[in-house]
Amino acid sequence: MGLANSLDGKTAIVTGSGNGIGRAIAMRFAAEGARVTVADIEEDAGQETVDRITADGGTAIFVRTDTTDSDAIKATVSATIAAHGEIDVLVNNAAAFVFGKVEDVTQDDWAKVFGVNVIGYANCVREVLPSMRKQNGGAIVNIASVSSFIAQPEFIPYNASKGAVAQLTRCLAMDLSVDNIRVNAVCPGSIRTRATDRHIAELGLDPEESYEEFGQDSLMKRMGKPSEIASGALFLASDEASFMTGAQIVIDGGATID
Ligand SMILES: NC(=O)c1ccc[n+]([C@@H]2O[C@H](COP(=O)([O-])OP(=O)(O)OC[C@H]3O[C@@H](n4cnc5c(N)ncnc54)[C@H](O)[C@@H]3O)[C@@H](O)[C@H]2O)c1
Repeated sequence: MGLANSLDGKTAIVTGSGNGIGRAIAMRFAAEGARVTVADIEEDAGQETVDRITADGGTAIFVRTDTTDSDAIKATVSATIAAHGEIDVLVNNAAAFVFGKVEDVTQDDWAKVFGVNVIGYANCVREVLPSMRKQNGGAIVNIASVSSFIAQPEFIPYNASKGAVAQLTRCLAMDLSVDNIRVNAVCPGSIRTRATDRHIAELGLDPEESYEEFGQDSLMKRMGKPSEIASGALFLASDEASFMTGAQIVIDGGATID
């Protein structure tokens, strides 16, 4: 992909960008001219994203980051500013995938899923705020889900956490408008990533049959691709979305319209 320029000169941190949707976002942002920090807990995977970006002629660094650890995020923010300059864009994408029936979910499971998916997102926002305020604005994109607003069988902890991401997005949009910081969400439907593959394996299902079945939920009769979510994140992060805040873009092939 050739370099375009809708994020030219901007600095972006993308959490969880060692895999899946986060990697697609990091690569797309870099292709659009952003200087990207790949923030992931997995070193090899994060470095692989950076290698792909640099091979394509983009600019990126990897900083090992656990989004549940405030000190680690502070270090990531400092490393980003040192390497790329002040922060314009944060994409909160890193997630924990904890599913199950209410009676099977332990206290630790709840702490984990809310710790990463909700508190982790808020932690990252808090740590980028001084940099965004310094330059009078910024854009935050939270990766939520269709699971933010629909019920799914035995998805209780994950969906509760994603519902919270939807509210986090709206309330942040309200509070940060004074700082000229826009906060929006992308809600993906069923996207083929490692997370989906792991879920299929945990349920003991056949992968190909599962892709087919998940795909049938959408009007397009297929699962989505990480790059199709990256397109929504790119729009919300760019100045093309300058009058959007507190909004969510649903990218699910029409799966949740009825
Ligand atoms: N795959 C789907 O069908 C789907 C659907 C809707 C929403 N989403 C959302 O999209 C986002 C990305 O999901 P994915 O499917 O690409 O997942 P994935 O498992 O492929 O990638 C998630 C990445 O997050 C990283 N990560 C996990 N915990 C972390 C932490 N504490 N700190 C830093 N990094 C951490 C992992 O190392 C991994 O690289 C998530 O927010 C997920 O909820 C995915």
